[in-house]
Amino acid sequence: MSQLAPDWWKSAVVYQIYPRSFADANGDGIGDLQGIIDRLDHVAGLGVDVVWLSPIYPSPQADNGYDVSDYLGIDPIYGTIEDFQRLLREVHALGMKLVMDLVFNHTSDAHPWFVASRSGRDDPKRDWYWWRPPRDGKAPGSPGAEPTNWGAAFSGPAWTLDPRTGEYYLGVFSPRQPDLNWENPQVRHALYEVMRIWLDRGVDGFRLDVINHVSKDPRLPDGEPTVLGGSGDGSPWFVAGPRIHEFMQEMHREVVAPRRDPVLLIGEMPGCTVDEAARFTDPDRHELDMVFTFEHVQIDHGATKWQPGTFDLRDLKASLDRWQTTLAQRGWNSLYLNNHDQPRAVSRFGDDGRYRVRSAKMLATVLHLHRGTPFVYQGEELGMPNAPLTRVEDLVDVESRNQVARELAEGADPDEVVARVGRFARDNARTPMQWDDSQHADFSSTEPWYPVLVEHETINARHARADPGSVYHHYRRLIELRHTEATVVHGDFTMLLPEDPDVYAYTRRLRDVELLVLGNFTGETVAVDLPLAAWSDAELLIDNLDVPDAATREPDRLRPWEARVLRRRRTPE
Ligand code: GLC
Ligand code: CA
Repeated sequence: MSQLAPDWWKSAVVYQIYPRSFADANGDGIGDLQGIIDRLDHVAGLGVDVVWLSPIYPSPQADNGYDVSDYLGIDPIYGTIEDFQRLLREVHALGMKLVMDLVFNHTSDAHPWFVASRSGRDDPKRDWYWWRPPRDGKAPGSPGAEPTNWGAAFSGPAWTLDPRTGEYYLGVFSPRQPDLNWENPQVRHALYEVMRIWLDRGVDGFRLDVINHVSKDPRLPDGEPTVLGGSGDGSPWFVAGPRIHEFMQEMHREVVAPRRDPVLLIGEMPGCTVDEAARFTDPDRHELDMVFTFEHVQIDHGATKWQPGTFDLRDLKASLDRWQTTLAQRGWNSLYLNNHDQPRAVSRFGDDGRYRVRSAKMLATVLHLHRGTPFVYQGEELGMPNAPLTRVEDLVDVESRNQVARELAEGADPDEVVARVGRFARDNARTPMQWDDSQHADFSSTEPWYPVLVEHETINARHARADPGSVYHHYRRLIELRHTEATVVHGDFTMLLPEDPDVYAYTRRLRDVELLVLGNFTGETVAVDLPLAAWSDAELLIDNLDVPDAATREPDRLRPWEARVLRRRRTPE
């Protein structure tokens, strides 16, 4: 392999695969590694540089694999370690890199470490997790006996009583996902060893699941009551806790620094502030290469994601501008609108009806021209919209299912709950990938684990690849642009029109080359309030209008959902 620059990932685009829903080769209704191998031409055809696989390790699947019971194995539903080695070889043969998803904040409750830990108070692994007696000498299991008032992300208290020893263990996501105790150096060194083994197997990096949650304040104070009442918010005591930077630097020193080849480290960081992100990604600090911000995917939430909120483009611009600006000199952004935890962006920020294709391309254009590493989530390149989730049974994800159950138990109206929870449910992103217009969208030869709820007669990979005007080919062109135009990778970023509620506008500049990016976030024709005469001789690098609309393009007005990227040379000032 050729010698890689240490920051090779700055010009890269990552494609995320959610294996369960990508492609099923053996006909059991669940996606698998052979299915991925069979479809790599689709991924490579986009021109992406990196493939990120959501977890494929043995798991009870309480959270679709984000509950790992063996960090070194492959779940038999996905295949074998030989299948994995073959996948890795094929990915490399196609010139791409492979990034594994490591879930190190917690294990499954079926992981042998946890099984040992819960077996008795004196077990050597007891301290690998967070065990605490009932608070204030209360009887185990009595009301309010939990060691803190924290709520779990997937509803209910963050503490679960283990009757055998009369103590509680911490699981900030769910009782099936007990949190590891990173205060214990044995835990950390066991996890670093997992990373070394995967690197020795040939993978190129890791996406580290909720990695900013691994340092907890060992005093474990109570949290403020949450807006919805009930439990308290423990996040101030476990998000970016006191030793988080020390742990990230130790991981880098132990795992990354000794390697000959660069190792890509991407931190998933719910609740991370932009100033923290700048520290995590400052190259001189030797922590991580990039982090996922959550700020911009929370701007249309109400008090929680389940409370109705409204989308205001000015909020999106303010958030992304702050991240672009703060990480401009040191540090690096990752760029995403979609992943397996988010509703589909075309439904959320675009128009998934009449202008589905055009608005999907607009969103992609605006996102991909920012400074940072773009992530494409399976189906995004087809402009896949949200699933029509209409029945209680359509919500199968642990998070949405628990939320619906809780609200129904409180007496809420089922139709209202499904409609509201369905809007942000992760289920939207987890419907099967749509390969063609045949039964089950050719995801599987049998009834898939989760139905093909999205219209697949027209929205499918076969159509998309055959149609030069498709969303797929637009993504391909955007990715190519990043590879050929250095300004996209390295140029300075300047937000324009921050107060405009309809138009997203910014420039990128590198030496004498300047790009102007415009996106209309509405279904109306809008005027662009910028001195565009200066761009009249600029080259149109990419846009999203079809003939005949393109022929009648107006320089200072944008058609519904139109996007445009212009390039000009500036004479030095
Ligand atoms: C991350 C994953 C999500 C998972 C959670 C707990 O946010 O992306 O899917 O449920 O962590 O592991
Ligand atoms: Ca299968």
